Amino acid sequence: MQISTTRSEHQVDDARLAEILENPGFGTHFTDHMFRVEWTPDAGWHDARIEPYGPLVLDPATAVLHYAQETFEGMKAYRHEDGSVWLFRPEENAARMVRSSDRLALPVLEVEDFVQAVSELVTVDQRWVPDQEGEKSLYLRPFMFASEAFLGVRPAQHVTFMVIASPAGSYFKGGIKPISLWLSEHYTRAGRGGMGAAKTGGNYASSLLPQREAIEQGCDQVVFLDEEATYVEELGGMNMYFVFKDGRIVTPALGTILEGITRGSIIELAGKMGHQVEERRFSIDEWRDGVASGDIVEIFACGTAAVVTPVGELRWPGGSTPAPASTDLTFRIRQALVDIQFGRADDTFGWMTRVV
Ligand SMILES: Cc1ncc(COP(=O)(O)O)c(C=O)c1O
Repeated sequence: MQISTTRSEHQVDDARLAEILENPGFGTHFTDHMFRVEWTPDAGWHDARIEPYGPLVLDPATAVLHYAQETFEGMKAYRHEDGSVWLFRPEENAARMVRSSDRLALPVLEVEDFVQAVSELVTVDQRWVPDQEGEKSLYLRPFMFASEAFLGVRPAQHVTFMVIASPAGSYFKGGIKPISLWLSEHYTRAGRGGMGAAKTGGNYASSLLPQREAIEQGCDQVVFLDEEATYVEELGGMNMYFVFKDGRIVTPALGTILEGITRGSIIELAGKMGHQVEERRFSIDEWRDGVASGDIVEIFACGTAAVVTPVGELRWPGGSTPAPASTDLTFRIRQALVDIQFGRADDTFGWMTRVV
């Protein structure tokens, strides 16, 4: 892909940047540039460019605003001790975007074009990648949307793919504590034949009300069950793992959940650590009974934002299951992953791609 670059004439100055990187929070500060490329059926992907970060001008009839034909990704660039900057399995995000976009009737952006777009934006905005103290990173948000101004319900004939970047602080302020979960008995996130496996805005829009319910109930996150209210699916933005006392670990099977890249990495990592990993249906009864009997000794959730976080109490209307006894394996897996991401351990799986 041929990418033209127009440098911003209003880059954030060094003093202000240092202030932002000191305490970046999440998703509020954006780098000086953004990547953009357009698609039409005749021309394919064209006009790839890196340009100054700024607002988009959209016709009010732009299809994504009405029918939500869009997909996105979430990934991070990590600064290593020697100053170099790396991506974690970017081709997996690219491949997932191909699958998501296919489900949303959006065009395919080739894996190598996706990785090139992300890499070149990070290179141009490399001064925005924080140092690794406190597990800071540069969060990257590739997204694709129906940019055609047309109100007919059909796949758009003009599509835009963009990448923006935002420095991110540690997900956990004040140390890692087990998160409490609220069991959504009424709302589901996805159904058979739906788009639960796609990373598309509609799935997140539908999770906001149950997530608000979870907060109102004093819990950190909502956990979704399948449409029969029997099997555990995932959290609003993380996959789940259950650790048994005999060392087995279980994660809900793919189908209606998002295929997390952290989830997939843990399957490999835990396997290498000697654990038998099962991907299968996992019922809410198995959760409750397993914690009660002591068969389940740890539960954790995983995703790009939090990496790996212990899960504590599970609550639902009129009942609860206590936090499992241990967090030992949870923290060992977490450490193994972040050590690879930040270049403190050998990248034996070949997961890291150097950008700068
Ligand atoms: C619904 C959902 N499940 C799981 C995940 C974890 O995916 P990953 O490990 O690729 O970040 C995410 C985060 O992107 C998510 O939004």
